[in-house]
Formats: sequence, structure tokens, C-alpha cells
Amino acid sequence: MTQAQKGICAEPNIHALFLTFTVIDDDVQAMRVKLARTLDLFTYFDEEYYEAMVSGVLAIGTDYWYELYPDIIPKELAPFPAMNCDDRSAPNSPGDLFIQIKADRMDICYAIGIEIIQLFKVHVDLYEEVRGFRYLDGRDLTGFVDGTENPRGMHKFNVAIVGDDDPDFAGGSYIHVQRYRHNMTKWQLLPVANQEDVIGRTKADNTEYSSEKKMASSHAQRSILKDEKGNSMEMLRQGMPYGDMSVQGLFFVSCGKSPKPFTTMLNSMIFGDEEGIYDKFLDYTTAETGAAFFAPSTTFIKKQAKK
Ligand code: HEM
Repeated sequence: MTQAQKGICAEPNIHALFLTFTVIDDDVQAMRVKLARTLDLFTYFDEEYYEAMVSGVLAIGTDYWYELYPDIIPKELAPFPAMNCDDRSAPNSPGDLFIQIKADRMDICYAIGIEIIQLFKVHVDLYEEVRGFRYLDGRDLTGFVDGTENPRGMHKFNVAIVGDDDPDFAGGSYIHVQRYRHNMTKWQLLPVANQEDVIGRTKADNTEYSSEKKMASSHAQRSILKDEKGNSMEMLRQGMPYGDMSVQGLFFVSCGKSPKPFTTMLNSMIFGDEEGIYDKFLDYTTAETGAAFFAPSTTFIKKQAKK
């Protein structure tokens, strides 16, 4: 049986380290072996510091996939769906390898991060390092609880993990990341009632607006979508707030058994509905990066390392 990477469906943690790399050499065999060793690193730290609830995700960028495992390609592998409309955009940015480290201790995230940098040193450049943190009771820095409508329990696996319809990749997950930067000054000038209209939920007690009250331009309305068969489109969101005293935002991460829900929702947020009603939240936050990855099962990564 194929085993999904533990971090994909893991419960939220207090800290995260999101590392994005570009690969600078062509020693693919060494990379295959080191990816398998990274899984061992996650396991080692998880067992050694069990109270830290360590989990990791290791994902390969779409372009690099064709170099790393050229003979075997996930059915729906696709580049990041960069898009823009008026002053709203979702740019793509470099990313051959994405490593998400989460734990309830920042020192453990750091210790794993340093080991990973050592391991891959000669093969990669670190494109970006973002430290995520849990804010208040699971809120985004805009003050709204984030993740409420995420799938729960076993349903997470149905939403985030590829099944037997792509047998070579069962246990894998399509990952999209975007680093959003909030315009906090502009957001804070907006009265709370208007902020609530933008999100489609109340702020303090996180109650969903009724369907009559929810505006077409609200973030909730723009991201609640159905596929051609009338089924709800779902993804598992794993992102976390990041920031310091001058820059604030959300490092968005989504995991899906298909890349379609992400692409369709992003399209709905940026281009809007038939009348062009877009996601008003994008007037207050801007995507500065974007990349698409596939996180194969641990079984796949270990098998490829032995070839
Ligand atoms: C700055 C970036 C973003 C922030 C701060 C943000 C924040 C939120 C918040 C506060 C909620 C309501 C509570 C919840 O269910 O989590 C929400 C819901 C949701 N968001 Fe986002 N979001 C962001 C970007 C995105 C993007 C890029 C997508 C998809 C492409 C997305 C998809 C969703 C979905 C599917 C829901 C659940 C809707 C529902 O079923 O009610 N979000 N988001």
C-alpha cells in the first residue's frame, strides 16, 4: 500500500518553515537519494521530539519533475496557472523543490531546516525561506479565523490525496503555494462590518454569513464552487501567517488530489463570475509568488531512490 507524506493531512501546528529551492546541477540520482533521506530526517525528528508533533512535506516543482523522474509523470501535472486581470494578479515564481516543515517548536523546525540545507547544499539555491506562525486562535493576520471550512478527519484524505485512478501516484498530492502580502494599513481602515462582508463571515465569533447575506464578491462566495457534475470543489489549505513589524501576509499552501480546485478557485477570485464580480479580498492582499508542485507518496520517493 502506498503511504502519503505525513505532513499533507497533518493537524495544524504552531510553527512552520516553508523552504523553496531551485536546483542548480543535473545530478538527478543524488537528488533522488537525498529526497529519500529527507523523509528519514522527518521521521528521526518526529520520533526524537515526539511532543513537537513534527510533520514534513516534500514536493517537486512541475518543470523539475520532468528532469528528476522523466519516465513517469503524474496524470494532472501542470505548471502554476499564472493569471492576471486589471490590478489583480497571481504571478508564478521559481520553485524546483518545496519543503514544508511544521512543528510545535520553532527550534525543531530550525534544526530540520539546517539539516536539509546541509544535505542539498551542492545541488540547490535557496530561493525563499518563510517562517509561518499560528496567530491567536488560528487567525489570519487580518483577524479572521482561517481554515474553518477545511475538510476534517478521514475526509481530508479524499480531498488531498490522489487515489487509485492514477495508480503510480496514489498517495501523492498536488501542491500550490503563493506568498500573499497584506496591505494592513488599508485593511485596518476598513470598518469591521465591511471586512466581514469581504470575507463572508463574522470576525470575532467566526460565523458564516447566510447565503442571502453573502455577497458575490466575498472571499467565501468566490471560493465555494461546484464542478461540472455539481459536486463541491474542495482543497486542503495548509498555509500560515508570516510577518514581522513591517511586512505581513499569508503563506498560502493548498493540497489536492487534483490541481483543478485550486486553479478554478483562483480564476473565480481574480476574474470573478460571469458579471466580472471578483474577490474583494484581493483589494487588500497581493500574491507576490506562486508555484506548483507534486508531493509523491513516501513509497514512490523511496522506490525511486533505489533505482
Ligand atoms: C491571502 C490569502 C488568503 C487568506 C488570508 C484567506 C483567508 C480565508 C478565510 C479567513 C476563510 C474563511 C474561513 C475558512 O473556512 O477558512 C477562507 C476560506 C476559504 N478560502 Fe481563503 N484565503 C486566502 C486565499 C485563498 C486562495 C488563494 C484560495 C483558493 C485558490 C482560497 C480558498 C478558500 C476556500 C476554499 C475557503 C473555504 C470556503 C468555504 O467553504 O466557506 N483562499 N479563506
